[in-house]
Amino acid sequence: MNILVVGGAGYIGSHMVQWLDREGCQVTTLDNLCSGHREAVLAGRFVQGDIADSGLLSSLFASTRFDAVMHFASFIQVGESVAQPGMYYRNNVAHTLNLLEAMRAADVRRFIFSSTAATFGEPVYTPIDEAHPQRPINPYGRSKWMVEQMLTDMDTAWGLKSVSLRYFNAAGADPSGRLGERHDPETHLIPLVLQAARGRRPHISVFGRDYDTPDGTCVRDYIHIEDLCQAHWLALQHLMQEGASDAFNLGNGTGFSVQQVIDTAQRVTGRSIPVVNAPRRAGDPAVLVADGRRARENLGWVPAYPDLQTIIAHAWAWEQGRA
Ligand code: UFG
Repeated sequence: MNILVVGGAGYIGSHMVQWLDREGCQVTTLDNLCSGHREAVLAGRFVQGDIADSGLLSSLFASTRFDAVMHFASFIQVGESVAQPGMYYRNNVAHTLNLLEAMRAADVRRFIFSSTAATFGEPVYTPIDEAHPQRPINPYGRSKWMVEQMLTDMDTAWGLKSVSLRYFNAAGADPSGRLGERHDPETHLIPLVLQAARGRRPHISVFGRDYDTPDGTCVRDYIHIEDLCQAHWLALQHLMQEGASDAFNLGNGTGFSVQQVIDTAQRVTGRSIPVVNAPRRAGDPAVLVADGRRARENLGWVPAYPDLQTIIAHAWAWEQGRA
């Protein structure tokens, strides 16, 4: 199979490129390197460029007959999206539309989309299944939700078959230690906690201890990056077998609090991690836990690393290997 991975130099995309290569696919990564890393692309062909560039897209699609496109490239920071919504709608929505139109012109009709739990907004019930209302509460979530809507319309109009995968909290690292999480700036809890364990940051700030949760800190559903890759791989099989367009929530169905993450990280690393209490971060729901049963039942997805300790251990091995 010939697969185009857009955003293949980023955290999740780079793990996917490695997975596809291991499975024997011909992989092309397209990434503008605005946040990705060239050296994280461990296999296949690399093209530096932007999905905003229609000329580049048409020559790419003319030169290679892709069986499917996986789209990981987007801006991902909720707070930034509130401050600069135009940037999020342009990059995450308009540029994705450009990509989809290039696919239509080239008659490429299989698409796997990185969506997010943020499309649901404030949970009405938990765990969150696919029937849960989608009422995003920030431009980041809305931008992903808009693309989900576009995908449905494009299926109706020209038969685009897509799978939207709504990640809860992507975490962990390649078990062989070759890849991991490297955002700049880093905003995610687990890498920040591990950087504090390593002494690269003075402490970890806990954003709010007064939530309606067992220990007062926010609860999230952390899902190993390799398990996300497995879900993409299964979604690709589904589309290759002429499966219908669909959307799945990806999480383990178990929530861990910020404090539990810190406690687990202390056990895994054997270090004591300085903690500072900080105010709530705007827009953080108290609890976000996925009901991932549909992906298990319909795609045959079985997460291999559901255990938080393993997720953190893999992230720690990666963190320690970093300069
Ligand atoms: N947190 C802290 N201190 C920090 C960083 C995070 O206490 O220094 C807390 C947050 O308040 C939150 C939890 O740790 O309760 C997890 O925060 P992350 O930033 O790691 O992840 P989020 O749950 O905010 O974000 C994830 C995805 C986003 C997506 C969002 C949907 O990473 O891309 O879920 O709500 F938008």
